[in-house]
Amino acid sequence: MNRVQTDGFAARLDAAAMEVAALLEDLLSAAPLEGEIARPAHLISAMRHGVLNGGKRLRPFLVMETANLLGAPKDAASRVAAALECIHCYSLIHDDLPSMDDDDLRRGQPTVHIAFDEATAILAGDALLTLAFDILSAPETRLPAEIKVSLINQMARAAGIGGMVGGQSLDLHAERETPDEAAILRLQAMKTGALLRYACAAGAIAAGADNKTLARMSRFGEIIGLAFQLADDLLDVTSDAATLGKATGKDAGRGKATLVSLHGNEAVRLRLDELVEEAALLLDPFGAAAGPLKQAAGFIASRDR
Ligand code: IPE
Ligand code: IPE
Ligand code: MG
Ligand code: MG
Ligand code: MG
Repeated sequence: MNRVQTDGFAARLDAAAMEVAALLEDLLSAAPLEGEIARPAHLISAMRHGVLNGGKRLRPFLVMETANLLGAPKDAASRVAAALECIHCYSLIHDDLPSMDDDDLRRGQPTVHIAFDEATAILAGDALLTLAFDILSAPETRLPAEIKVSLINQMARAAGIGGMVGGQSLDLHAERETPDEAAILRLQAMKTGALLRYACAAGAIAAGADNKTLARMSRFGEIIGLAFQLADDLLDVTSDAATLGKATGKDAGRGKATLVSLHGNEAVRLRLDELVEEAALLLDPFGAAAGPLKQAAGFIASRDR
């Protein structure tokens, strides 16, 4: 297991989580915005259930830390972080649906389709997806127009056909086929990696970073994205629902091929160690200022929830 120095990291992650939760609380208020007609109470409740429920907020943390490292405006970075968390929460609500992974428990609470109903869960996800683009494009996200357009465009690509949704599609098909390692890596890079890559790229885009820096941060995001899903697949085998807040043993139960089922726990743990090292090396040029992001890589690989 990775024993990365994480002093102060937990407090920093907590602070980011609290900040983004406060913003999301505000963004998911009952009052309609200019241009909206009304916000149905039932829909807002379902959206709030799926968002304001104690997620780790790792993607927001990565956006905010990358933005901080590269000098992007803090308020704008928080809004980009909140938008990305809306996409992530929508992906979880839909992932848990009976027609997908059919899960009853998420973040220690009943999933949205259990707490409400299936149609409401579908609509809550739809509305969160749209809300993400509202948040990015709204005047309150104070960034130069060309930077905003780039953030919006890259978010669409990370979330859509060639990113998260495409990956979820490949993932469902993989339950009926026997994908090889390359196919598993590709679908994981899409279903999970794309949003984590975007989290790290977004801070760089918001900071107006040069292409070389953007490429470096994107690569960092890809590596921790891979580590993230490997850890998720490992926890599915090694953890329990009380610790994780979601059911375990799901992948084997559904016949889902993962690198854990292919190579075993120990090989995946070793691979995680390598990925953390690789990720940290990429950040060396930034010196000590990149400490929190390096710690995030360690946390992602060795987390217990
Ligand atoms: C879980 O993501 C789903 C995957 C992409 C593997 P997280 O582990 O980040 O879930 P929360 O947001 O903390 O609940
Ligand atoms: C989910 O992967 C990825 C997305 C939601 C895009 P999993 O299906 O493995 O996530 P968990 O284990 O349900 O959180
Ligand atoms: Mg799934
Ligand atoms: Mg799932
Ligand atoms: Mg999983």
